Amino acid sequence: MFSQDNRTVVVVGAQWGDEGKGKLVDVLAERADWVVRYQGGANAGHTVQIGEKSFVLHQIPSGILHPGVRCAIGNGVVLDPETLFTEIDELVHDGIDVAGRLYVSDRAHLVLPYHKLIDKESKLSLSLGTTGRGIGPAYEDKIARRGVRVLDIRNPPRLRELVERGTERANAQLAGFGSTKRADAEFTLELLAKLGERLLPLAEDVGLMIHRAQKSGAAVLLEGAQGSLLDVDHGTYPFVTSSSTTSGGAATGVGIAPTSIDAVLGVVKAYTTRVGTGPLPTEMDEEMGERVRKLGNEFGATTGRPRRCGWFDAVVVRYATRINGLTDVAVTKLDVLDTLEKVAICTGYECDGDVFTEFPGDISMLDRVTPRYEWMDGWRQSTADARRIEELPSAARAYVDRLQELIETRISYVSVGTRRDQIIGL
Ligand code: IMP
Repeated sequence: MFSQDNRTVVVVGAQWGDEGKGKLVDVLAERADWVVRYQGGANAGHTVQIGEKSFVLHQIPSGILHPGVRCAIGNGVVLDPETLFTEIDELVHDGIDVAGRLYVSDRAHLVLPYHKLIDKESKLSLSLGTTGRGIGPAYEDKIARRGVRVLDIRNPPRLRELVERGTERANAQLAGFGSTKRADAEFTLELLAKLGERLLPLAEDVGLMIHRAQKSGAAVLLEGAQGSLLDVDHGTYPFVTSSSTTSGGAATGVGIAPTSIDAVLGVVKAYTTRVGTGPLPTEMDEEMGERVRKLGNEFGATTGRPRRCGWFDAVVVRYATRINGLTDVAVTKLDVLDTLEKVAICTGYECDGDVFTEFPGDISMLDRVTPRYEWMDGWRQSTADARRIEELPSAARAYVDRLQELIETRISYVSVGTRRDQIIGL
């Protein structure tokens, strides 16, 4: 993805999250100078397998696993300082040197204990199937202009005022839910006093740092979390996360100009999954869903919840291509389909006698649609050792070619296993 002309590249999920962005970022970070996360928070779970060891990163960009790469958490992220340091300590324990190459935007908003409490106690969160990590409540406070930013830790009187007001509001909300749980401002302030000592040395003007890096010709990778169909504007609202997961969010979430982005890589699974509630038009029947879930180990990296599985939905990915301006696509987990007799691709939705090929804004329409499928032969042999496209079985190659045709975007990578080396570059 990086070349003389492509210096700033965004990696986005083009379905409902868990597409395997962590692996792609890990592979691309080999040639990057910087990797920056631009939205979401500890709701994400990026899994990267190196040798026998599997790393699950929630907030720290996957680039941290490459020794020379500098990483940053942008202003668009809602940062949970508690889990950040748990994650840092685990990396250090595993021999990954983090010191001096991880930065946090001083403008990033904090996820505080009362946000997590509200997320866990609210019936709305439960009905949406959120991760319970306080993401929605923290973004709510941000947009309502009452949030707490990293830079507020530098100003104790202001921090106290914000936390006291936030706690009071949270407690009123909890009472409104009928919950007996209550947040405690002093507990939050003590926590921030303790964590602040470690957090403030990492705090920087990340937008300025990345701008300077771009000017000096650095290779910059902007890493999204979740997927395009979970975007607060473009996803299956209200069954979405609370941030801009699409490539537009990369510019605002890092603090750089949209015009400084050179390429956008969309990551898709060779099929579809989603966690939580909300529409999934191509959801498989129970038996096939269970089979693919087992084959693909489709259980949430953050919550352990089983993921719902569906066939590849070309309507969804074409839509994601358009709203992200994808220049390239990476197809992951092709190997998961290796043993299937037949594989299906959804090319449109049939509804009331019409066929729709554009994703609708009103998701209630999706309750009434029947996916129109193209069935293709399975390849019934392992793809795990293929390293060049020519080494794929012809039926697998035909499947990838058909995906490329339908999504109208170049497929530049096909991943055939969890390990770093199990990838085909086209
Ligand atoms: P929240 O982001 O915790 O508020 O959850 C909102 C919705 O986004 C729920 O359906 C979650 O399951 C989903 N979600 C959040 N993070 C991820 C992720 O990393 N992968 C897949 N789904 C996610």
